[in-house]
Amino acid sequence: ITRFPLIPVKGVPLRNNIAENWDSIWTFRPDPSDILIATYPKAGTTWAQEIIDLLLHNGDAEACKRAPTAVRSPFLETCSPPATISGVERLKKMDPPRMIKTHLPIQLVPPAFWENKCKTIYVARNAKDNLVSYYYFDCMNQAQPEPGPWEGYVHKFMRGELAWGSWYDHVKGYWTEKEKRNILYIFYEDMKQNPRREIERIMRYLDLSVSDEVISRIVELTSFKNMKENPMANYSHVPTSFFDNSVCSFMRKGEVGDWTNHFTPEQSKMFDEDYEKQMKDVNIPFKTLI
Ligand code: A3P
Repeated sequence: ITRFPLIPVKGVPLRNNIAENWDSIWTFRPDPSDILIATYPKAGTTWAQEIIDLLLHNGDAEACKRAPTAVRSPFLETCSPPATISGVERLKKMDPPRMIKTHLPIQLVPPAFWENKCKTIYVARNAKDNLVSYYYFDCMNQAQPEPGPWEGYVHKFMRGELAWGSWYDHVKGYWTEKEKRNILYIFYEDMKQNPRREIERIMRYLDLSVSDEVISRIVELTSFKNMKENPMANYSHVPTSFFDNSVCSFMRKGEVGDWTNHFTPEQSKMFDEDYEKQMKDVNIPFKTLI
């Protein structure tokens, strides 16, 4: 595996294997019944995927076990490792309704998703925890660009120089469009605080109706502990040459506030001052930016 360099697509840095296949992604046509799960990387994508899959299968974990999360919910823009088929090709082989995962900022989502009024669920996570999680992921995922030292990584995050671009633009882009495009916008911290409430919100948004008992089962099956041990959800099928588990596992910690273990007080102050500037035009109710 080689670490892919970043190439800008319409000003957003994407891994070169995505940038080189951009036309096939941009012209992808989903079915109106398809569900889009959009996130900035490491905001809780896999967690949301598990919840949605279980909701669609009435909490039947066996029914979800036909394939791991990554297969039953293909990653729209993936084209790696080179030997596997692309996300677009995989989707074309599946019958709708499909769950489609993307990290693309809203302006790069293929326009047919909006033309077809596909349901879209966006998960956002507070900036500092999202950054910490992305740092570890860039250390362990051998296809992502080199993260370099922690201090420099914080600056790269602030400048939007990571794969899929600026966290600030990402969370703001979906936030400002959410009413117009009927996007369900949820927060990682709310899922941690009250998973049942957030699962019920997703259920209602998808026009599904499952019993209280099934909701309880989904809460249990999608706890961090259970997902960490579930080979269908924890990406343990990915070769270690690709996801280096000696650095950390994909299901790393799953907590709110882990940033306090990584940012120095000076880094935190500098980050907060920049955050105020970058977020001054919106009022997104992130919690725990202590
Ligand atoms: P950490 O690195 O902070 O542990 P994504 O799926 O978007 O790549 O996000 C991965 C992050 O979500 C990781 O964060 C992972 O541990 C966390 N995560 C995954 N499933 C979770 C769950 N059921 N509960 C809490 N956190 C979860």
